[in-house]
Amino acid sequence: MTALHTLRLDGDALTLVLAWSGDAVPGLAYLGATLPADEDLAALAGALQRGRHESQADAPQPATIWPQTGRGWLGPAAADLRRGDRALDVDLQTVAARAEGRALTVELADAAAGVAVRLDWRIGAGDMLVVRATLTNVGDVPLAIDACAALALPLPVWATRITDLSGRWSGEMRAAAGDLARGAWVKESRGGRPGFSGAQWLLVGEPEADADRGRLLAAHLAWSGDHVTRIERDNDSVALATMGARLDAGEIVLAPGTAYETPAALVALSTAGRNGIRCAFHRHLRAEVLPGRADWGPRKVHLNSWEALGFDLDTASAIALAERAAAIGVERFVLDDGWFGRRRDDSSSLGDWTPDPQRFPGGLAPLIDRVHALGMDFGLWVEPEMVSPDSDLYRAHPDWCLHAPGRARPAQRNQLVLDLARPEVGDHTFAALDALLRAHPIAYLKWDHNRELFPRAGKGHAQIRALHALLDRLRAAHPAVEIESCASGGGRIDAAMLARCHRVWPSDNNDPLERLRLNASYSLFLPREVLGNHVGPDPNPITGRVTGIDFRARVAMFGHMGVEADPASMSAWERERLAAHIALYKAWRDVIHEGLEWELTPGKGAHGSLFIAPSGARAIGFAAQTGFAADYDLPPLRLTGLDPSARYRVTLPEPWPRKARRYLADPDGWRAGRTLSGRALAESGLALPLAHPETAWLIALEKVA
Ligand code: GLA
Repeated sequence: MTALHTLRLDGDALTLVLAWSGDAVPGLAYLGATLPADEDLAALAGALQRGRHESQADAPQPATIWPQTGRGWLGPAAADLRRGDRALDVDLQTVAARAEGRALTVELADAAAGVAVRLDWRIGAGDMLVVRATLTNVGDVPLAIDACAALALPLPVWATRITDLSGRWSGEMRAAAGDLARGAWVKESRGGRPGFSGAQWLLVGEPEADADRGRLLAAHLAWSGDHVTRIERDNDSVALATMGARLDAGEIVLAPGTAYETPAALVALSTAGRNGIRCAFHRHLRAEVLPGRADWGPRKVHLNSWEALGFDLDTASAIALAERAAAIGVERFVLDDGWFGRRRDDSSSLGDWTPDPQRFPGGLAPLIDRVHALGMDFGLWVEPEMVSPDSDLYRAHPDWCLHAPGRARPAQRNQLVLDLARPEVGDHTFAALDALLRAHPIAYLKWDHNRELFPRAGKGHAQIRALHALLDRLRAAHPAVEIESCASGGGRIDAAMLARCHRVWPSDNNDPLERLRLNASYSLFLPREVLGNHVGPDPNPITGRVTGIDFRARVAMFGHMGVEADPASMSAWERERLAAHIALYKAWRDVIHEGLEWELTPGKGAHGSLFIAPSGARAIGFAAQTGFAADYDLPPLRLTGLDPSARYRVTLPEPWPRKARRYLADPDGWRAGRTLSGRALAESGLALPLAHPETAWLIALEKVA
């Protein structure tokens, strides 16, 4: 009988147990709520062992945390390796395994194949599992890595349903649930960024799991390039998930003695439905990923020039827009595309990062001075990884773009991609941005990325490493500058960018109905303070939908709020309402951005969220109806997630939705406030008029001593 080994890790409310026989690769014996400290782990693992059945290898191979095919495992392998032109069969065995505090390391080796793998699993803030692998060539000839998972996770038997989160430009993160069938579910991105396919997000769980009940597992890969995420469920319904950076063949070839370290994969387990996943991811990102998060001040209200002025910018029009922005309470004016080179549309000038001498004859200083005089700070749009064929940079260095020598240079949005991994290109790009930031008091950069990487000539991976190095260098030189990651909206949202950025642009689509959906999906992983949410123009330029200012503003409040419309195109009344909501955002942003987010279940077609301050003393709720409800009187909105024994004074902050206010039974009662226990709020609730399309209510709660 071979010895059974176990390793245990404990988080705040989580236990992980690995188990393996002899020198086999460990399997996952347990991942769930904290086990008693004296649990007999050998008994736990032994109770799960199965005997051999017909048509299996003589020594059946269970799913492990580093699956490999040589001994009869027929599921996906963690890595595809080659020496020269031949696939390399590896038979890694456990040579060491140890746990210390909240981290464990498993070392695997196959001396004959010349391969060693180290698996690092740690429980971080928010009880997040942070997992990565390091693969070393211990042989004496080069080793090619064609695929290498950061995470291989045998799925618990209860994880039979998957929520797919993919989309397209202006329609990101469409959630669609389905059963995990036998066979493979695979998501790949191939455009040199996570893209819109959702390959960087994984959400699986029990079919019954909902907003606050049931078991769910969510995973994310902290990588800004191509991804591959796969779940394979075999004929016996054993399911295994793998996640890793997608590599081009021949791109990673390890010289003897060198190693490839995968990006980190983040894995959260919830026993409280989607809210448990939110809680884990938000806590983790805030504590361990977002740069200097503890020192962030209030998230300033933006006005971005894109939807107001497009490319039609000059000093005078930008100043006039800034003045209108300041008048409604905006705190940061962001000059979007169109300020540099000779850019009048998207056909030129990327790479020429100096102000257009015709439209900004005095440079940016007159505009920035005016913005400052208006009490706002200044932000600027850049797209540093790109070059337009019609640019001074391209004319000077036509070989600086990613291209296959002697072949066509296919463009997207009339632009090419700089080969950032070339040191002179990286240095030039840094110098251009550094010069801008030295010359001007710029508080914020909107860092855009509007095309996929092709052809890549096997450089996709190096490009991302170079991008991260560029961002790190810039941040070290200008630590106070905030950076937003945008890629035609949400084309590059991942924890590796978020380790270097302060917010993301989730979508070019500012339509509030779309934003409700987008925020529900993104907020599974990202806290609201990093989700740029703007009040867009009316009608919406992408969907054509007409929506009221109150609804647009209330939806935008629940993110990092901004305005991406021209206040001059609004009526005086609309500007007044917008200003009132900006003021409300300022009053509540600390709670929305630091608090615990709790998804509510207001009824069919409606959305609801509650944000509870870390102290528990205040909370702000939001309930919105999108369509025309089937029932005139929706069930009372139950506010879950509060302290059941505490008492809260509940008011409905004004301005109230115009149509729905008529149906409030006792407006003065809501103005004065009603005091209810957390238990009553969760079990009984509030009867809000939510029948009409595009109605949104705010609910303010203050804990009563
Ligand atoms: C991308 C961004 C937009 C805007 C334009 C400017 O599409 O997603 O927000 O900045 O570029 O060209």
